[in-house]
Amino acid sequence: MENKMETQILKQKKEEEYLKLRNLDWLSSVWKITTVNPKFQKFELGESHSASFPEEVAYRLISLFSKEGDYILDPFCGSGTTNYVALALGRKTMGYDIEEKYINLTKKRVFGKGLLFCKSSEDMNEVFDNSIQLCITSPPYLNVRNYSNNIENIGNMNDPYPKLNKVFEEVYRKLKKGGYFCLNVAGIAEEGYLNTFPFDLINLCKDIGFKLRSSIIWDKGITIKDWNIKNNEIAENHEYIWVFKK
Ligand SMILES: C[S@@+](CC[C@H](N)C(=O)[O-])C[C@H]1O[C@@H](n2cnc3c(N)ncnc32)[C@H](O)[C@@H]1O
Repeated sequence: MENKMETQILKQKKEEEYLKLRNLDWLSSVWKITTVNPKFQKFELGESHSASFPEEVAYRLISLFSKEGDYILDPFCGSGTTNYVALALGRKTMGYDIEEKYINLTKKRVFGKGLLFCKSSEDMNEVFDNSIQLCITSPPYLNVRNYSNNIENIGNMNDPYPKLNKVFEEVYRKLKKGGYFCLNVAGIAEEGYLNTFPFDLINLCKDIGFKLRSSIIWDKGITIKDWNIKNNEIAENHEYIWVFKK
């Protein structure tokens, strides 16, 4: 009897939470969110990162795929956007970055809270296996941004796939069964043509064991209309967020 009551209460709670979310336009799979301008970030934090994603992206993903008290991981935390928002929403958080300057920036942003490590996330033995509810990350790739001159930084490697594979395998190990992995990635132009990098990562994750649940198009809200008119082409104004489940 008690068990049945408990299930009913849980069901009602779930419905209430769903009702709270359902009127929000971000339950659509296209999100229009203005991208971060490093100049403003520098103004707010005193320092900046060249590839931060907006807090709003982390806010929506954390609200949708976790609850208070859950652990949220970012294996490429950069300026700590995921960690900052996770703490603000009452979650616990862990992060890795290979660059000391970014870990210091993250520590500053979260006022010393959260568990943050300056090392490669290929090995995250500080995190218990099967303990993480949600991993959100935006990986480094193909020299698109200059994070540092460190040859160990995946962003500086011509072939990032083996290292990304190791990190994502580690993410898989750390996630709880039923936990989510949200991977934010953009299309990359090489010699005038888009490569298939975002889609290759889907296959890489599927081979590890992740199941693709859905995709979100993040429309970055920047206008490249002039460029498109001048070049008679359509350049991409969006990034992808692949939502995987373990
Ligand atoms: C796209 S940025 C992440 C930005 C972050 N989402 C934010 O909002 O600030 C990718 C980060 O991965 C870091 N990185 C590169 N190789 C790494 C590795 N092997 N282990 C951990 N971090 C690494 C880079 O230094 C960079 O800060």
